[in-house]
Amino acid sequence: MADDINKDNLLEHISDIVNKYSESLKNTKDLASLNRLEISTLGRKSELTTILKQIKDLKDPQEKKAVGQQANFAKKSIEDLILKRRDSIKSDYLAGVESKEKIDVTIPGRRIETGHIHPITQMTQLCEDIFMRMGFDVCYPYAIDDDFHNFEAVNIPPNHPARDSWDTFWTEDDQIAITHTSSMQNRILTSSQPPIRVIVPGRCFRNEATDARHEHTFTQIEGVYVDKGINLTHMLGVLKEFFSKFYEREVDVKFTPDYFPFVEPGGMMSLSCILCNGKGCSVCKKTGWLEILGCGMIHPKVLEMANIDSNTYSGFAWGFGVERLIMLKYDINDIRYFYSGNLDFLKQF
Ligand code: FA5
Repeated sequence: MADDINKDNLLEHISDIVNKYSESLKNTKDLASLNRLEISTLGRKSELTTILKQIKDLKDPQEKKAVGQQANFAKKSIEDLILKRRDSIKSDYLAGVESKEKIDVTIPGRRIETGHIHPITQMTQLCEDIFMRMGFDVCYPYAIDDDFHNFEAVNIPPNHPARDSWDTFWTEDDQIAITHTSSMQNRILTSSQPPIRVIVPGRCFRNEATDARHEHTFTQIEGVYVDKGINLTHMLGVLKEFFSKFYEREVDVKFTPDYFPFVEPGGMMSLSCILCNGKGCSVCKKTGWLEILGCGMIHPKVLEMANIDSNTYSGFAWGFGVERLIMLKYDINDIRYFYSGNLDFLKQF
């Protein structure tokens, strides 16, 4: 074999290879065929690599040098040609894509459905905003609390018959899924000095059958206001202002005595019917008034349990259901829509 190898043969072979691959290169149409050609031209088993391996068999060092230089030059030229061809295949491809898929940057973006804030949260935030602008702080309740805070600290000792008014979920270790946001009253009164103005928005839970106006899980907003010389008219003024802001119209309020162990006097506050403006309709049962919340002057015992001198300070508290407020605002006839997961309903907010 070594006898056939001479400088002229090798140089001729090299120039054949360059010509042959330059021609083949022009016919490659895509990157895959170009890659195949690159391997067959420059790879370990290619003709050029074989020639490079044979150079060592030439006896004359001058000839070795000449063939070596020529082979390396050929290799470099083929590499350059491949590089150029790869670029041109890529730009041809991109030009084709561009002409087919023109991008119009002036088209408005597509709306992606990512959901939105639940109406109860939206309205709770609105309530927080209104009360904060009136000078109230906001604190949130514990979802699970103890008997002391949910009942005893608001003047409902064990075995008090009023406990029956709150159908309670108990945990196995005698904790309570709070039945009302009044569970925070004692913490609010013990953790700050009068004047105290705090609201407590939070979820409450009651072990009761559901119907169009009752859910087992619902949202209350408690309010606590304590200072010197506070009386019922302050409470009615604060709540009238709040409801006028919430319903974006002037409303009237009225207090009707009722019993809650933690307020004295206690009662229900009614609102002039916002659907008929107090004229009388089916929702207000022709009375012109809607009973909307429980409220009253904080019982002296509740103040004393929080070490607040009830001879110096007085205050009021209330608790209303956010869902019921929203139902009136948007004329919704069933509270169960809120947690139904009904998207047609939820998307309206
Ligand atoms: C209470 O829970 C008292 N803690 C409110 C209170 C606070 C009175 C401070 C005095 C002083 P009541 O059980 O009436 O009271 O609930 C208050 C409001 O929560 C109701 O007017 C109603 O709007 C809402 N509510 C009560 N139960 C449900 C229920 N099952 N589903 C939806 N809303 C409810």
